[in-house]
Amino acid sequence: MSEMDEADLEKGRQRGSHGRQQAEGVLVIRTIAMPADTNPAGDIFGGWLMSQMDLAAGNMAGRVCQGRAATISVEGMQFLRPVKVGDEVTLYANLVKVGRTSMRIHVDAWRRPRYSDRSEPVTQADFVFVALDAEGNPRPVFVDG
Ligand SMILES: CC(C)(COP(=O)(O)OP(=O)(O)OC[C@H]1O[C@@H](n2cnc3c(N)ncnc32)[C@H](O)[C@@H]1OP(=O)(O)O)[C@@H](O)C(=O)NCCC(=O)NCCS
Repeated sequence: MSEMDEADLEKGRQRGSHGRQQAEGVLVIRTIAMPADTNPAGDIFGGWLMSQMDLAAGNMAGRVCQGRAATISVEGMQFLRPVKVGDEVTLYANLVKVGRTSMRIHVDAWRRPRYSDRSEPVTQADFVFVALDAEGNPRPVFVDG
């Protein structure tokens, strides 16, 4: 990675974390998996988890580019183990690359069973967001240089 790319990444991380970067990433969403979010088998529906991850990455992308951004791709989605009703679900986001108009954000989802003090990873993926102007066209991530 060039020095300029690294400087952009660092600038993006500062904006995206508001100083709250932890080893796992930035804790963007913590929520409880509810009965309404289940699949027919009674476990949590993967689509619900994907939407939470998209919300988490989108939230960080909006902070980084300080404006509107849209998901252009989701890569490497893996479901490692099921999420159960009542689990505490935590979404950590990590900005891994800043391009000219795009931001690659890795999201890790963890579950903590309701009455346990142990958490385990359940899902991860890379989300690529594109910064958009008012007309919905790509614009530079950093408009202020
Ligand atoms: C986002 C959108 C405006 C981008 O327009 P576009 O003309 O395809 O954009 P470009 O080809 O200029 O690419 C923009 C950036 O995305 C990157 N990109 C394009 N396709 C990509 C892909 N499949 N995976 C990862 N990055 C990709 C490009 O490399 C470029 O990044 P850079 O400027 O940092 O180098 C357009 O694709 C769009 O509106 N998509 C729908 C978005 C949406 O509605 N998302 C929600 C779905 S529910």
